Amino acid sequence: MRVLSGIQPTGRFHLGNYFGAIRQYIALQKNEQAFYFIADLHALTTVRQPAELKENVQNAALDLLALGLDPDQATLFRQSDVPEVTELTWLLMTVTQMSLLEKCHAYKDKISKGLAADAGLFTYPVLMAADILAYDSNLVPVGLDQVQHLEVTRDLAIRFNHIYNQDVFVLPEAHVIQATSKVPGTDGEKMSKSYGNTIGIFEAPKSLRKKFMSIKTDSIPVEGVKDPDHDSIFALYQLFASEQEQGLLAARYRAGGMGYGEAKQTLYEKAMEYFSVARERRAQLESRPDDVEAILQAGAAKARSKAREVLSRARNACGLSPQHAGW
Ligand code: ADP
Ligand code: TRP
Repeated sequence: MRVLSGIQPTGRFHLGNYFGAIRQYIALQKNEQAFYFIADLHALTTVRQPAELKENVQNAALDLLALGLDPDQATLFRQSDVPEVTELTWLLMTVTQMSLLEKCHAYKDKISKGLAADAGLFTYPVLMAADILAYDSNLVPVGLDQVQHLEVTRDLAIRFNHIYNQDVFVLPEAHVIQATSKVPGTDGEKMSKSYGNTIGIFEAPKSLRKKFMSIKTDSIPVEGVKDPDHDSIFALYQLFASEQEQGLLAARYRAGGMGYGEAKQTLYEKAMEYFSVARERRAQLESRPDDVEAILQAGAAKARSKAREVLSRARNACGLSPQHAGW
């Protein structure tokens, strides 16, 4: 079974990205043939500074590897290192109805705000479909926000197969990551880059502590009884702590006598402990950029070999020569 997912390098990864996506990617690498890529072509629809994009891609690779993505088990690569995917995007574009893309959230939201959308944003779901279909992917772990794109992908695969009357593409299934679908940010809303409420996975300890200390709470004083079930500090603590530790902290909330400041400090210490191995690994990887690049190159070579096979099927089905002069 092929598992595939991509993550956009549009900034530094935060706790929402880790608990809502990356952790599950890493768990799946053990039993499945996993392909994970850094979606730098998709990021071009928002990141317009070349140096920033480069840095984001490098950081994404370092973060993923430090967090446990194992290149011996999973294939990690840059989306743009597989040009077959962009070619496949065109083939898919020719079977994509405008009305299908007009329904997609990212585009619709932008237009409803009166903003001008470019063709890159409009056709974003077709590139994503090519990402998935190029590798005969069976299962695509994604957050709820991406389910619509999976539906578009299936739609395009069915249409292409139908038009050319051949089983060119494998139909993928979404594996919706729901358990922690809403990691709260410092303001209690869903943690997201676009809300400026994120807590980075690898922030320097001082700044990380500051972020935890800034989490919004109600104004119950130290002596007051507190409700762990309606509090962002506790919601975050649950992600890091064992059941027993959660029980102990919940009891202290309910007993009164503990201020939110103390709960925040407990959360900070737990988060530092949770990511301590990953932090060390990241520091080591950072001093070996050539090794990281070699991992990405080897991943791309493996991904390309599969993408060529699928693209060749697609080219052949539509009456193009099955192979490029360049292959
Ligand atoms: P952002 O909202 O910060 O721009 P992305 O949209 O790039 O984050 O998210 C990348 C992945 O991380 C997606 O699969 C998304 O569902 C997941 N994710 C992002 N924020 C959260 C969150 N607060 N809780 C759970 N999952 C999240
Ligand atoms: N659009 C996805 C996101 O923003 C990233 C992505 C690009 C992706 N291509 C993909 C995810 C293919 C899964 C499969 O999170």
